[in-house]
Amino acid sequence: MRTIYLDTAATTPALKSVVEEMLPYFSEEFANPSGSYDFSKTARQAIELSRRRIASLTGAAPEEIFFTSGGSEADNWAIKGAADFFEKNRRKIVTTPIEHHAVLNTADFLKNHGFTVEYLPVDKFGVVDLEAAENIIDSDTAVVSVMFANNEVGTIQPIEEISKTAHKHGALFHTDAVQAAGHVKIDVSEMGIDMLSASGHKFGAPKGIGFLYKKNGVEISSLIHGGSQEGGLRAGTENVPYIAAIGKAAEEAEKNMAAENIEIAGKRDCFVEMVLKGIAGSVLNGHPEKRLPSNANISFRGVEGKSVVSMLSMYGICVSAQSACASKSDSVSHVLSAMGLDFERARGAVRFTFGSGVRFEDLDYTVNCLERIIKNLRCLDS
Ligand SMILES: Cc1ncc(COP(=O)(O)O)c(C=O)c1O
Repeated sequence: MRTIYLDTAATTPALKSVVEEMLPYFSEEFANPSGSYDFSKTARQAIELSRRRIASLTGAAPEEIFFTSGGSEADNWAIKGAADFFEKNRRKIVTTPIEHHAVLNTADFLKNHGFTVEYLPVDKFGVVDLEAAENIIDSDTAVVSVMFANNEVGTIQPIEEISKTAHKHGALFHTDAVQAAGHVKIDVSEMGIDMLSASGHKFGAPKGIGFLYKKNGVEISSLIHGGSQEGGLRAGTENVPYIAAIGKAAEEAEKNMAAENIEIAGKRDCFVEMVLKGIAGSVLNGHPEKRLPSNANISFRGVEGKSVVSMLSMYGICVSAQSACASKSDSVSHVLSAMGLDFERARGAVRFTFGSGVRFEDLDYTVNCLERIIKNLRCLDS
C-alpha cells in the first residue's frame, strides 16, 4: 500500500540536497570545530555558512543565530533564560493558552519556581486578543511568548502588534516559530522579535537540530553550561552535520518558499472545498485567511477525530488529530478548547498538512476515504 503523507506539521522528510550537504561531516571532515589545527577549519566554516544562510532566511545577523537540538530546547532556553536573567526585577511570564507544550510546560515550570504566568486569550479563530495584551503585559513582565503560527490550526498571529506592546513595558518578546520558519516570510527586525525558536525537521532538515535567534544586545541566561561553543551561551561540541543540514534547508526554503506556497495553498484550498462540499457536518477550524498555506484543520460532527485518524491510516493516509506530541493524551485539544469550540467540534477535529509535490489524485483518494469513514463512524454512533 502506498503511503499518502498529509502530516508535514508533524515532520518533513530531509531534502536530498540537505542530506548531501551533511554527509562529508560524518567521516571525511569529522574534525572537532574547536580544534586549533587547519583540519578543523572546514567544520568551522560549515557552521558559519549555516549561520549566514539562516540569518538570510530570517532577516537576522549571523551572530544572532544559536544552534540548539530543536524547537523544544530553543523555547525552554528563551523563556527560562529570560526569566532567570530578570529574576529579581520582573516576575511575570505572559503567553497564550494555545502554545505548544514546549512553551506551556516551561511556563508551568517557572510557575513552580515563583513566577506568575498569565495567558492572553484568543478568539474563535485562534487570534490573540490585542486589547487583553494591553491590559495583561506590564512592567513586571520579563518575557512575552506568543507563537508565530499555531501547530494545530495554522493561525498566524499579529506578531508586530504584540511585540510593540511587550516593548512598551520593557519586556522581551519571544515567538515559537517552529511551524512558520522556512514556510512563511519572517523578518525578525521588521517584526520587532527579540527571540525566535525554530526546528529543522519542520522544513526539510533532519530531526534533532534547531536554532534560537537572539537579537544582539538581548541578554538571557544559558541553559546548557560548559564549554565556550555558541558564544559561550550553549555549551557542547557542535553537531556539525546537522548544523550544515539546517543551513542548507534554510537556503532551499528561501529559494522555493514563494512558489511552493502558491502550489501548496492551491491544493489545500481545493481539498478543503471538496471536503466541506462532500461531507455534511464538516467545518474548517482556524482563521480562514491568516493561516499557514499548508494547514487544513477540519472538524467532522458526530465522530471522534482520533477514530478518523486510525481509519485513514488503514488506507495508508497519515494525518493527525492533535499535534504529534499531544496525540497520546485522551482529552480534546487544548488549542480548540481555548478557541471556545464546543466539545463535539473539538472532539471531531482532524489536522491535514500538505507538502510540496502532493498529488491531486491523492487528495481525491483521501476525500473518498474520508466520505466512507465518516459515514461508517456516524452509523456506528447512532
Ligand atoms: C509549535 C511547535 N513548537 C515546538 C515544537 C517542538 O519542536 P521540536 O520537535 O524540534 O523539539 C513543535 C513540534 O511539533 C511545534 O509544532
